Amino acid sequence: MKNIRNFSIIAHIDHGKSTLSDRLIQSTDIVAERDFKDQMLDSMDLERERGITIKSQTICLPYTAKDGHLYYLNLIDTPGHVDFSYEVSRALASCEGALLLVDASQGVQAQTIANLYLALEHDLEIIPVINKIDLPSADIEKVKLQIADELGLDPDTAILASAKDWIGTEEILEAIVTKLPPPQGNPDAPVKALIFDSHYDPFRGTVVHFRMIDGTLRPGDRIMFMSNQAEYTVEETGVFQIKRVPQKSITAGRVGYIIAGIKTVSDTRTGDTITVKKRPCEKALPGFKEPKPVVFSSIYPVDTDEYPDLAAAMDKLKLNDASLVYEKDTSAALGFGFRCGFLGLLHLEIVQARLEREYDLSLIITAPSVQYEIGLNDGTMMTIENPALYPDPVNIAYIREPYIRASIFTPDTYMGQIMQLCLERRGINTNYQYFGSNRMEMVFEMPLAEVVYDFYDRLKTVTQGYGSFDYDMLDYRQSDIVRVDILINSERVDALSQLVHKDKAPFRARQTCEKLKEEIPRHMFKVAIQGAIGGKVIARETINAYRKDVTAKCYGGDITRKRKLLEKQKKGKKRMKMAGEVMIPQSAFLSVLKSK
Ligand code: GTP
Repeated sequence: MKNIRNFSIIAHIDHGKSTLSDRLIQSTDIVAERDFKDQMLDSMDLERERGITIKSQTICLPYTAKDGHLYYLNLIDTPGHVDFSYEVSRALASCEGALLLVDASQGVQAQTIANLYLALEHDLEIIPVINKIDLPSADIEKVKLQIADELGLDPDTAILASAKDWIGTEEILEAIVTKLPPPQGNPDAPVKALIFDSHYDPFRGTVVHFRMIDGTLRPGDRIMFMSNQAEYTVEETGVFQIKRVPQKSITAGRVGYIIAGIKTVSDTRTGDTITVKKRPCEKALPGFKEPKPVVFSSIYPVDTDEYPDLAAAMDKLKLNDASLVYEKDTSAALGFGFRCGFLGLLHLEIVQARLEREYDLSLIITAPSVQYEIGLNDGTMMTIENPALYPDPVNIAYIREPYIRASIFTPDTYMGQIMQLCLERRGINTNYQYFGSNRMEMVFEMPLAEVVYDFYDRLKTVTQGYGSFDYDMLDYRQSDIVRVDILINSERVDALSQLVHKDKAPFRARQTCEKLKEEIPRHMFKVAIQGAIGGKVIARETINAYRKDVTAKCYGGDITRKRKLLEKQKKGKKRMKMAGEVMIPQSAFLSVLKSK
C-alpha cells in the first residue's frame, strides 16, 4: 500500500484539468504516442467537442519516482460541473489527496472554492497548481494572493505549470508521491468498497468503478450492494490503464473495477458500498444518496413516426446514465414522448445533444420545470413537475417551490448588474464578502425555477464572462405559482403550458405569444394566439390570413417542377405540429425556451 497514491484534480471549468491529465498520462509511458488522442480521459465525442468533462474516468499510472521506487498513481477524474457535485464528492471520498488547479489568468472561481470545500470535507491533502503560466495575461502573484486569502492554502507550495507546454509536469508527479499520504485499510478485514462511478459495456454489462477501503475482492466472490441488497458474482477484477487490465484481486487502498454480470448502470448506485455476502462488513460507508432529478422536461420526436426510435434511444442512454429518469408522456399537440428528470440544465442539454447526434433524432423539448409541492384543501399533498398535472386551482391550499443557495464570484464592478439580475429572478441577497481588493462573493437565496430559465447565460452576459456560479439546494418555500396556458385559435396547446410565479405570468404569457407570432407561418385564415390563466386571457397576438402558393410562379407549365415544389412543401410540413387547423413549426417550441 506504501506505493499507492489516490488523487483527483479539482478545478473550475476550462482551467485545464483534461490537458493536465493528458500530460500526466503521457509522462508515465502507459500509452503509445500514436494511440494518444488529446484529452484521453474525455472519451465521449460530445465532451471533446464542448471541452467539458461529463463522465468521470479513472486511470492507474505506473510511475518511477526520483527515489527509484515504482508507484501506482490512481487518477480519479471528476466531472466538472455543478450538476454533478454529488458524483464529485464520491470521487473525492475515494482519494487521499487532490491537485487544485487554478488558471493563472482567471484566478480562483466559484467552482474552485466549491470543490475545495468538498475536498476538505474528506480531509484530503491539497497540492495547489497554477496552470497556464505561459499565457501573456498570467498574473502569478495575484493568483498566489488569492490562494492564500480565498482558499487559506500556503501559496509557497503552489506548483507553477503550463499543461500546454509541459511545464511543471514532473514536479507535479513528484509532489503526488512525496506530499500525498498513501492509503490505509486492512486487506484482511471484511470487504468494504465505495462505488464512485460505473459505465456500460455492450459485451460485459456494467463495469463498476470502486475504491477498496478494506478487504480484498477476487473473481468468484459473491458480492452484495448494501443499499438494495442486490447480489452478484464477480467475474473479473482489474484496473484501468486506458484499457481494462484484469488483476487476480483488488486489495484495500486500491482503485479498480469489477464486472459481475450487472445488466444496467441503474442497478449500481454511485456512493453505494460493496461488501461480500459470506462475511459482510458491519456498516455501509457514509454519504450515500439516491440520485435526485431537479429539472424536468418532456421530449417528443418532431416526426411522430420516430417515437419507437426515440424509445429505443432512451433505453440505450439509460444504460450508461443512472441519473436519467423518464416515463412515457403524451401530449395532444406532440403525440407520444417521454417525461424526463435531469440533475440540472447541463445534464438536460447533454441528453438532448446525444439523442440528436448519436441517434439522429429531431426532437422537441418542452420548457424545463422544477418540482412543486402542492397542498390540497382536503389535506393531501402532491408533488408535480408537469404542468399537465396541475390541479384545479379551487382545490389548492398552498404551493411550495424549491429554493437554492446561489454563490456568485465576480469582480466587484459587476455587483450592481448581478444584484439587478438576481432580484429580477426573485432572489434575496443574504450575504456578500470581499476577497482581495476587487473580487467578491455574492450569496443569494432564490427559486430554482428562476435559474433553470437561462440564468447562467444572463450571468455570463452581465459580467462579460467573468462571473462564475455555483449552487446548493436549500428547501421548499411557499409561493404563488400559476399555470399559464397557450391557446391557438382557442385550442390549448398542452406542450406550451408553463408553471410560473404569478407576478411573472403576464410577462411570460406576452413573451410567449410574441415569439409564437414570429414563428408560426401565415395561414389561409386568421390565427389567434392567446396566453391565459384558467379561463382568463392575459395576452394576445394575431397572425393575419395569407396564402403562400409556391406553385404560382410555375405558370402551370412545368409539371415536374411543380411537383418538386409541392414535395418540398410537404417535407416542411412534416417538421410542423398541428394544433387544430394551425401548423406550428418545431422552431416555435424551441424559441419559447429562450428569454431573448
Ligand atoms: P473541463 O473538462 O470542462 O473541466 O475543462 P478542463 O479544466 O478539463 O480544461 P481543458 O483541459 O479542456 O482546457 C481548457 C482550455 O485551456 C483548452 O483550450 C486548453 O487547450 C487550454 N489550456 C490548458 N492548459 C493550458 C496551458 O497550460 N496554457 C494555455 N495557454 N492553455 C491551456
